[in-house]
Parts: sequence; structure tokens; C-alpha cells
Amino acid sequence: MWIGVPKSSNTYYTSQKWRGIALTTCALILIATLILFKAKPTSPSDPEALKGTAFFPSSIQFHPSFEFMNGTEVIWQIPNSPKAALFIAPGCTIRASNFWDKSTFCPNCDGLPEERAFVLQALEREFAVLTISSLEECWSFGKELENVEWIIKWWVRENKLEGLPMTALGASSGGYFVSALAFKMRFGSITIMIAEGVFVNIAIGNDYPPTLFVHMPKDRIRMSNILRNMEDFKAKGVDVKEVRCMDFPLIPNVLSDRIPGVNRSFAVKIVEVFHEKGFVDEKGYMKMDGRASPWKEALKEKNLLSESDEWIKHVEEELNLAYGYHEFCSLKSEDIFEWFDSHMK
Ligand SMILES: *[C@@H]1O[C@H](CO)[C@@H](O)[C@H](O)[C@H]1NC(C)=O
Ligand SMILES: *[C@@H]1O[C@H](CO)[C@@H](O)[C@H](O)[C@H]1NC(C)=O
Repeated sequence: MWIGVPKSSNTYYTSQKWRGIALTTCALILIATLILFKAKPTSPSDPEALKGTAFFPSSIQFHPSFEFMNGTEVIWQIPNSPKAALFIAPGCTIRASNFWDKSTFCPNCDGLPEERAFVLQALEREFAVLTISSLEECWSFGKELENVEWIIKWWVRENKLEGLPMTALGASSGGYFVSALAFKMRFGSITIMIAEGVFVNIAIGNDYPPTLFVHMPKDRIRMSNILRNMEDFKAKGVDVKEVRCMDFPLIPNVLSDRIPGVNRSFAVKIVEVFHEKGFVDEKGYMKMDGRASPWKEALKEKNLLSESDEWIKHVEEELNLAYGYHEFCSLKSEDIFEWFDSHMK
């Protein structure tokens, strides 16, 4: 900073002058930096689109129980006075262990931001939460339906949850699975996320549970399938509703508030690279899905990422969510629990 500034006493006056110039320059650079920081990635250009992305502050601690049953992993947690039970079926490649943070209770758990946020909110609302992994990468619809029905009944018995309303939520492949399971088992109501369900091949009866579709309208084909299915539900007199999960601008807080382990200053750096590389448009919206953007290469180039980093999948999930095409969307938890609450039987 002071390089080039005269130091000898006979140039004291000059030194003072230089000092003044240098200080002013420093201050200007600082102000300019602050303005740039504020003006670029950190300012939400569309507050409405960012609604709900601030992390839900939760007082809940994860202390799940784990069991290996019928060839798969089963992880659950039961609040002190549960008012309902909730079975969650994850999407392809997502495991039960992705719904819970790593802890002494579950050393192999690795909570992904959307899944863990959803479970925290379920527990906060006194839902007993049961997560089960599919046998393969995605769910199948033969023996696996029987397995899961068996596991759910075992879990209800073991934990004395008989008499509580039973609800279910499935995302993507898990959404198809839950929609099929609801033909076999009684649920008070269900939520099918980013999936249209298996209703093309199976006709529903009027005893099918009330169904909430949570979907991302950017996936237009899926949306039109869902809207068509909803017509069918209405014709059969089955309660049905849709909730739309929209894209939003990627701001650092989306990463640092929602991913434990990514701090704010690091999130600012990541989002800066996204602007520099043009992964986001001038309003901060992702131009492509997180899975399709070469963001990992870009961060590696800047020495901001190494293969051993534990938050890679977590960041990618938030990028997918911001793009708003196909991802678990915990942003609509409010609507989902309202749906479950209004159909408690
Ligand atoms: C699941 O495992 C239990 C215990 O091993 C077994 O009794 C039950 O029959 C299995 N369920 C199915 C559907 O295979
Ligand atoms: C923020 O995270 C980065 C990357 O993980 C780390 O290098 C840095 O020390 C962290 N800063 C603070 C203040 O914790």
C-alpha cells in the first residue's frame, strides 16, 4: 500500500500529501468495491421471486433412528407428541440419508438442503417422519410397493402411531411411487412433487386420497400432464390442488442460508464467478440447470473447489432449485403442510 511513498524526513510535506492521496484512493477503492458487491450478485433484483428462499429458522435437532430392512435403509424421527405420520419417497439417486444431517445418530447421513429443510419443518409441525431409500437408483412398482407397505406398517406398530393420520410425499420417481402406493394403502392425503403420477395407466376411484401436486411450470410437458390429471381427479370428485414452484435469482444468501457448511463470504465468491462466466443472466437467473452448467470446472479454475469438497451436491441442488425445472422444492412447505392439515382424518 505504501510502496512509492517518500519516507525521508526532508520530504515530510510530500509524504503527508502522498499519504492523503493514498488514503483517498484506498477509500475510493473500498467504496467502489462495496458498491460493486452490492450492485451485482448480492442485490435481489426480484424480491417477489425470492420469497421463501430465506432459511426457515428451526429449533429442531436431528436425532433420527436407523434400521436396515427388506434390503434397504429406513431412517425416521418421531417428535414428542406426534399429530400425524409422514412417509417420504425420494427421487432417483437421492437416499433416505439425504434427508438428515450427519450426526452421532446418523454418521452416514448427509442432509441435502431442500430435503433437510423439509424434514425440519415437518418435525417442527409435529409430524413423525419416515424416509425410505429405493432398492435401486429409482423406485420400481412391483415387489417394492409391498416392501414399503410392510415397512410403513411395521414402523407404525413399533412406534405406536396407530390412529394417527398417515400422509405421504414423493418427489420425482418417489412421486410416481407414492401415487401408486396410494392405490394399495390408505393415506389421509398425499403430495406429489415434480411428477404427474401413474394415473395414465391406472384409473382413480373416488376413494383416492386428496392429492396436492407441487410442480415447476418451467417443465411445461409435466405441467400439462398434471393439469390433465387434475381434470380427471375433479371429475371423480377427488380433492386436488396444484402449487407452483418458480425460478428465482441466485443470490449468495440462497447458498449460505440453506447449505450448512457454505458461509456467506464463500457464497459471494461463488455467485461472482457465476456472473463473470455468464451462468446467470443480468437479473441473476440461472441460464441453465445446475446439472448442465459447467460451474464446477469454473470454480476449480479459480481454486474455489476441490473434488473432496462436501458441499458440491448441495450447491448443485440449490442451482437446480433456482433454475426451477426439476428439483425437490421445500419452498412450498407452507402449502404442503396446510394441505396435510386440512385433510386430517
Ligand atoms: C420385510 O422383512 C421382514 C423382516 O425380515 C419380513 O418378515 C417381511 O416379510 C418382509 N416384507 C416383504 C414384503 O417381503
Ligand atoms: C468460509 O468458507 C471458506 C471455504 O470453505 C473457508 O476457506 C473460509 O475460511 C470460511 N470463512 C469463515 C469466516 O469461516
